[in-house]
Amino acid sequence: MTTVTPRGKMNNAFDPASADQLDAATRSMVDQRNRLLGPAYRLFYNNPVQVSRAKGVLLWDKDGNEYLDAYNNVVSVGHAHPAVNEAVRRQMDTLCTHTRYLQEGILKFAGDLLETFGGSLSDNGHAMFTCTGSEANDLALRIARHHTGNRGVIVTSEAYHGNSYLTAGISPALGDHSALGTFVRTVPTPDSYRLPVETLGEWFAEQVAAQIRDLERHGDGLAAFVADSLFSSDGIYSQPTDLLAPVIEAVHQAGGIFIADEVQCGFARSGDYLWGYQRHGVDPDIVTMGKPMGNGYPVAGIAVNHDIVEQFGHDMRYFNTFGGNTVAMAAAQATFDVIRDEGLLQNADKVGRFLIAGLTDLAASYEFIGDVRGAGLYNGVELVTDRDTKKPDAAITAAVVNGLRERRVLISTTGSHANVLKIRPPLVFTEADATRLLTELDAVFAQQR
Ligand SMILES: Cc1ncc(COP(=O)(O)O)c(C=O)c1O
Repeated sequence: MTTVTPRGKMNNAFDPASADQLDAATRSMVDQRNRLLGPAYRLFYNNPVQVSRAKGVLLWDKDGNEYLDAYNNVVSVGHAHPAVNEAVRRQMDTLCTHTRYLQEGILKFAGDLLETFGGSLSDNGHAMFTCTGSEANDLALRIARHHTGNRGVIVTSEAYHGNSYLTAGISPALGDHSALGTFVRTVPTPDSYRLPVETLGEWFAEQVAAQIRDLERHGDGLAAFVADSLFSSDGIYSQPTDLLAPVIEAVHQAGGIFIADEVQCGFARSGDYLWGYQRHGVDPDIVTMGKPMGNGYPVAGIAVNHDIVEQFGHDMRYFNTFGGNTVAMAAAQATFDVIRDEGLLQNADKVGRFLIAGLTDLAASYEFIGDVRGAGLYNGVELVTDRDTKKPDAAITAAVVNGLRERRVLISTTGSHANVLKIRPPLVFTEADATRLLTELDAVFAQQR
């Protein structure tokens, strides 16, 4: 089998052309993966990690070596959380079936979830369940189009919203070889590091307004503006928080709706609010969610304003074999309860501040650290060739991530230039864990001087 360097873009991807540098056992597993899973999958790191078990914020490889997990947001309440695992096990032993039977669990969870949004989604919203974030965004787009009668969708220039045909088509992060829909327009990343922060909101709204005009001119009109309010794949832009309000106003004026993609930034990630969009003081028409929702069990969904989904529900039905099934709801409820009972929103805020302070201290010592940003336990460190030109330094970023991996601390990279360290640990990360990460990061940075 040929080992060509893949051109499908992904940050921090293992390059199969360098497989001959791996030890024999790892190389054999990589070969098997290529043969059995085919060419579209990617691994992380120059030296891929073979994980075998995990607990809390720790992972162990097959030889029993311990790794600090500062990357995984799916197991947001910690790997193998006993309360979530017990709830899933118990429910699996009792009943697992779909949403066409009356069941209490889905009603309890939908009620708890809808209460958290405030605004119109709490007053007049519904919850609909899927298995993945892609399906949630796909469903949201179908509802948006049915409601507005328009086709157009606006996203940021490095957004990722999913892997279905429709959502891959609104995901420029998949790279130049992955086709965007003809109904899609992109707006530039609201880059708070390079653009004036005081006028960023106004500038961003102008970018969106220009694309709305273009969609109207081409006869598509605007169905939806879709945004992840932490702009995760764009490079993690957590500030300023006055960006979205003027945009949403323009979107509504054009007859479109706002879909807040909370797949990454939801469920307490940002430390200040349960939902990332709440940091911007806006009231979305649809919220999509997934990833951390079941702490690893596949559960995702949307919250949608009644007025937006009314005609859709009248004209067609919605069914998803696994989405919202009894076990999915048990996992989601248990995860939700743990976030509340263990005070993980507060923990994300406290430990996130500690981490940002430590990263800012490191920036004083290393010239190649251009910017430190983030909210709660979602942090980005942008590395540049020099602070005046702010030229992205992807090479040093890759060296740092791989250097940390060798010291058994796992993070990754993000951004269109792959030059932003992406630090996104489970929400149970402690100050001691943050100190370990900062110590190792300091050691790896020192090697790059
Ligand atoms: C912002 C965002 N939206 C949607 C998705 C798609 O979610 P899933 O992989 O569960 O389909 C992702 C996945 O990375 C994401 O980051």
